[in-house]
Amino acid sequence: MVDVDAALDASGLTNEAVREYVKHWAQITQPDRIEVIGAEDDDRLIQECLESGEFQPAGEGRYYSRSYSKDTARSEERTIVATNDEKDKGVYNNWRPASEMKEKLTELMRGQSKGKTMYVLPYLMSPRKNELSQWAAGVELTDSRPVVLHMMRMSRVGVEHVNDLPQQGNFVRAVHVTGDLENLGQGTPDDKRYFVTVADERMILHFGSSYGGNALLGKIAHGLRQGAYDGWDTKKFLAEQYMLIGITDKETGKRYHITGGFPSASGKTNLAMMLPPDAMGDRYQVDFYGDDIAWLWVDESTGKLMGMNPEFGVFGVAKDTNEKTNPTALHSMDPGTKVIFTNVAYNPKLEDVWWEGRTPEPPADLDGWLDWKGEPIADREPGDTSPWAHPNSRFTTTLANVPNAAEDFDEAAGVPIDAIIFGGRTRDREPLIRAIHDVAEGVYDGLTLGAEATFAAEGVEGQLRYDPMSNRPFMAYGEGDYARHYLDLLAQVKDKPLFAHVNWFQKDPEDGHYVWPGFRENLRPLLWLMRLKDGEVTGRKTAVGIIPTEDELDLEGLDLPQADLDRILSIDVPRWQQEMGFREEHLNQFDRLPEEIWEAHRRVTKALDEQS
Ligand code: GTP
Ligand code: MN
Ligand code: MN
Repeated sequence: MVDVDAALDASGLTNEAVREYVKHWAQITQPDRIEVIGAEDDDRLIQECLESGEFQPAGEGRYYSRSYSKDTARSEERTIVATNDEKDKGVYNNWRPASEMKEKLTELMRGQSKGKTMYVLPYLMSPRKNELSQWAAGVELTDSRPVVLHMMRMSRVGVEHVNDLPQQGNFVRAVHVTGDLENLGQGTPDDKRYFVTVADERMILHFGSSYGGNALLGKIAHGLRQGAYDGWDTKKFLAEQYMLIGITDKETGKRYHITGGFPSASGKTNLAMMLPPDAMGDRYQVDFYGDDIAWLWVDESTGKLMGMNPEFGVFGVAKDTNEKTNPTALHSMDPGTKVIFTNVAYNPKLEDVWWEGRTPEPPADLDGWLDWKGEPIADREPGDTSPWAHPNSRFTTTLANVPNAAEDFDEAAGVPIDAIIFGGRTRDREPLIRAIHDVAEGVYDGLTLGAEATFAAEGVEGQLRYDPMSNRPFMAYGEGDYARHYLDLLAQVKDKPLFAHVNWFQKDPEDGHYVWPGFRENLRPLLWLMRLKDGEVTGRKTAVGIIPTEDELDLEGLDLPQADLDRILSIDVPRWQQEMGFREEHLNQFDRLPEEIWEAHRRVTKALDEQS
């Protein structure tokens, strides 16, 4: 048995409860070595990864890594929320009893870190001294060095985050064991992976993956699932898969903050990194606070809804990132940023990376290029069109590297929220933007958020894969209770945020082109929303919310065909009426759904019937 005390003493980790926790799990997983990690260890660990081959150089101060080929995305089927109370069972949280899961994971993890190092990573999922910091401290134990380096980018790490806790035992216990990736039966009936959050014990046990979305426990499991459960349990806050931005009008000096959720791979990171359109860049500025998680609470003295990003970095989708779509993201991976690429295409001779959409055509000279599995592109059969990079390949960089990071992103206070937006991927029906003043209707709108099934085979044509508030993969407790908590929290807010639903993905039914150019142009509907909030425009009232009139939308410098403009600023009532039927089925699955939500549903249904 490794000498735990010696390792902990050397690191200055004094919190007794943390020390006990490390000892407990070291006895189970049986590592050969223990190392406590702080920010100062970054360069050394990178060097070790380069020597071991876990990383390869991808230009100056940039690194390439590859995860096991069957381990490249979050697994929703294998993700479980366990508690001691069956009332916490929801439709989406795969609820299991806590005792059963703790026993199972303990057995799976036993002896699995033999020959390896157990890294002890004390972390904080909030700016220091934030209102919610007491729910933000955790300690991840992991046996993967690349996971450590990713976590060091995505969260604030170091013993100082646990040594000075007011209550020594008040931290999330997050255990990650990689397991024997080649023998876990990923995706088969005999799948041995388990990603469990024991929410009412504030414990996270993940076994069988070293991919970021499953292994960075501070980020998804704590920042979203555990945070959501704690926020509800204490009635204090919401933890949501939302981006968070600031918009400044330099002409008037006004500043707004918008938060909101789009399902995974629907544009949060791109929106948070948005540059204003060329014609508007002198007047407006967009500041990045967060691109994936926001924690929201009510400031007791002002009655304002406040928000902050618990993360310290960006774990962004690489695909289609280029100078045109997202120059900000490209700069966040400039030489010297110590960015980590995962599962992109790699060329060891050039020490360079590529992904679909990085350039219009892949590199012409195939020499040295390897696809995301490490297979030489030059050896491919003629006609093989499979992507070079994995579609879910990612880049991991710290917030400090993001060119439009807000000056105050790391400050304790957080920012006041002016609007909450929801957006999915919908090819028809959803206009560019529709604003909702009524809180219950706004929450109802979030609960019925969805993205189109990617393949028709996945569902009925025109029917969404519902993703309430974009939290479906992160739901920690029952959806009805969640809606209740959301409404109760907002009831305490004095200056209510304006809700809105946005859609950048409407398509022309004839030729399938996106009718809205998206990306930087998305600032335009958001500016309209802020003007609506300030009473400077009135919009056009419809059954499903207020939509901009053509002259209210600032279209300076944008040449949009009239037919496209008409399409994104209109409501297809028969399609909406069909949708209301789907929504009713969706909402009917949830226990204890608040009556206010049903009332909102009936109001919208009636308004649609009157409009038809
Ligand atoms: P997660 O990080 O998985 O939660 O996803 P995300 O919501 O951050 O999505 P992201 O911003 O990475 O965008 C996903 C994909 O949508 C990328 O391939 C983008 O290029 C594309 N995308 C983002 N914004 C727009 C837009 O305004 N229009 C169009 N057409 N595509 C967009
Ligand atoms: Mn996400
Ligand atoms: Mn993202």
